[in-house]
Parts: sequence; C-alpha cells; structure tokens
Amino acid sequence: MKYESEKELNSDDLFLLTTARDSLFRAYAPYSRFRVAAAIRLANGQIVTGTNQENVAFPSGLCAERVAFFAAGHQFPEEKFDSVAIIARSEDFNMDHAAAPCGACRQVMLEYRLKQTDPVRVILAGESGSILIVKDVKDLLPLYFHEDALKKGE
Ligand code: THU
Repeated sequence: MKYESEKELNSDDLFLLTTARDSLFRAYAPYSRFRVAAAIRLANGQIVTGTNQENVAFPSGLCAERVAFFAAGHQFPEEKFDSVAIIARSEDFNMDHAAAPCGACRQVMLEYRLKQTDPVRVILAGESGSILIVKDVKDLLPLYFHEDALKKGE
C-alpha cells in the first residue's frame, strides 16, 4: 500500500516510523553520508532500533536493518516480530522516495519471519515522498534461499 502522507498511517505505524526517524542521528555513516534507521515492534510491544554502522574497511560495516534485527534476536530470542519501519536520509541529497532494503537485509529479516507464523509488516519511508507499507517481509524476497536441511539438531 502507498500513502502520500504519514497522516494517513494508523497511530501504531506512525509511532514506529517516528521512532525510526528519531534514531537517524545514531547512524554512523561518515563514508556514505547516507543514514538509515530501522525500528522494530515486537509482539510484546517492545521496540528495538538499529542504524547503519559503517567502517573504514567498507564491507565491515552493517546496514540498519541487520543491526536492528540482530539486536532484537539477541535481546528477545523468544519474541515474535510484528512490524518494522525503515527510513533513510542523505546528508547530500533529498531522499524523496521510500528506502528499499538491500538483498542481504531482506534475507536476514526473512529468517526471523520464518521462525513464526504471523507476517512481519514493513513500513518504508524517505525524507519526503510516499510511504510504502508491505504486508509481509516475505513478499520482499521471492525465491529465497531456505535450505532447512542446514538446521542441524533441531
Ligand atoms: N544501508 C542500510 O543501512 N540499509 C539498506 O538496506 C541499504 C543501505 C546503508 C549501508 C551504508 O551504510 C549506506 O546505507 C550506503 O549504502
């Protein structure tokens, strides 16, 4: 679903998106100058945030989504995921459309989604432009890698 203004969002979604936006200052992005924040709502109502953390050895940095999902997986290993809001802002240009998570982050988010039966809603935003809501993170990665036989001893 596409929304032209955040005024159209329900109060839970608006709060999650605002929480993500308020976390953008926590990004460490001196190289790309492109800040991304993710705010996850867990089923127990707890909110976990993450921002991109870069490194001078470029591949050693990590996207906001993975910082947030790994933090949530670590802090609340038994908790289910309800929704995630992702927002991006550049220090150099106007981010006038919704941020779309990279492929690696889609795979990571999907892993947590597949541990539960309920969908994980995704709210995507930029600085301006439309806000997109995807009803399940699963829809972001068709034909995903899922070799369940790799799960040994479960
Ligand atoms: N980035 C994210 O945090 N999430 C994404 O899904 C795509 C890109 C970050 C990585 C890097 O710090 C900066 O954005 C520019 O690529």
